[in-house]
This record gives sequence, C-alpha cells and structure tokens, in this order.
Amino acid sequence: MFALPLGNDASLRPLEVWHAEEFAAHLDRAREHIRPWVGPGFVTDDLDGARATLRRYAERQAADGARLYGIWLGGTLVGGVMFTEFDARMGYCEVGCWLEPGAEGHGLVTRACAVLLDWALGTRGLHRAEWHCRADNDRSAAVARRLGMTLEGVRREFWPYDGARYDKQIWGVLASEWTNPGR
Ligand SMILES: CC(C)(COP(=O)(O)OP(=O)(O)OC[C@H]1O[C@@H](n2cnc3c(N)ncnc32)[C@H](O)[C@@H]1OP(=O)(O)O)[C@@H](O)C(=O)NCCC(=O)NCCS
Repeated sequence: MFALPLGNDASLRPLEVWHAEEFAAHLDRAREHIRPWVGPGFVTDDLDGARATLRRYAERQAADGARLYGIWLGGTLVGGVMFTEFDARMGYCEVGCWLEPGAEGHGLVTRACAVLLDWALGTRGLHRAEWHCRADNDRSAAVARRLGMTLEGVRREFWPYDGARYDKQIWGVLASEWTNPGR
C-alpha cells in the first residue's frame, strides 16, 4: 500500500491480514529468537495463528487502538513495531517491537519506533508513551534508552517464562520530552 523508507534498503509498512503467509514464514525464522521476550500470544506456530494475530490487530486498529507495522529489508519481512496499547482518551500508548536475528544491529527498530512516537506524541497529541520489557532484555532496553525514554519502574517477578518469573521494566517518554533521535 505505502512504505516509509528506513534507510539501508529497509521500509516500514502496515502489516495486514493479506500478509498472513509472509508473516507466518517470517515467524518461522524469528520464533525461537523472540519467544523469551514477547507476549506468548504473539508467538504462533502456523498460518492460522499468524492470520489470527493480524486480524486481532486490524480489529483493534478499527477501534483506534493497537496497530501493527512490518519492517521489510530488501523485499523480505524481517520484523516490525507496534502499538501494543493505544488509548487516545487516556493520552497514552505502549510501543513494542521484534526482529528476526539476521536483521538486528542496523538501527531498524529504533528508526521505526521513532516514526510511531512522532505520530503518537505529535500528530495524535498523546501525552506519554511506554516501553515494557523483561529486565534482562538488554537489547530491548537499549532501544528504549536510544529513544530517550526514562526507566520509570520495575514490576518485580511479573513475567512468567519457562517455569521462572522475571522482573519487567517500564520505560516512558512524555510528549514534552520527545525528540526524534534520527533528526
Ligand atoms: C529488541 C530488538 C528488536 C532490538 O534489535 P536491535 O537490532 O538491537 O535494535 P535496532 O534495530 O534499533 O538496532 C540497534 C543496533 O544497531 C546499531 N546501529 C547501526 N546503525 C544504527 C543507527 N543508524 N541507529 C541506531 N542504531 C544503529 C546499534 O549500534 C545497535 O547495535 P548494538 O546493540 O550492537 O550496538 C531485537 O533484539 C529483538 O527482536 N529481540 C527479540 C524480541 C524482543 O526482545 N522484542 C522486544 C520485546 S520488549
């Protein structure tokens, strides 16, 4: 439909139901890499599961809620960014992300998240944006830090995974603080 250039032959585009096969193939490359760090409902195992995720986001977007965007690198879907929460009435959103391993290390997610934050905190006039990650997810926390977010708190032993519970960090940025690091 439309694509925003992210540099390095990469682009950001809406990730929609008609991408289900492409998304399922991408998840085959990404699944074990992302499993410890993202919500279990996002790590589906087959085409039906991938399609269900895309439909869930489409339905929430229709209600001005969550939204999902893919990152394509050289024509291949390699990851994406999303509003896991988007609440215009409360003036608040939460941004999330993932990449398959081969696409890490190029700044793609930092640039893509900056696009989302420009839109949410600028165009849409939200007051604050959050970033939630497992406290031992160093690469994810580094993205939040690169975006200029502040570590606001830790929910202790919040995140169950593989028989253990992990702390979860909450990062945040206010509209009055937001400066796109790419500009
Ligand atoms: C979290 C995750 C998306 C971060 O990916 P990432 O590639 O480290 O993040 P970016 O795309 O922003 O790239 C930053 C890296 O590119 C490098 N880079 C290169 N050019 C860059 C640029 N122009 N701008 C910013 N960074 C750049 C940075 O130095 C950094 O690499 P380094 O950590 O080795 O120093 C990825 O590790 C992942 O998918 N993990 C599993 C799923 C997950 O944890 N999701 C988040 C749940 S909260």
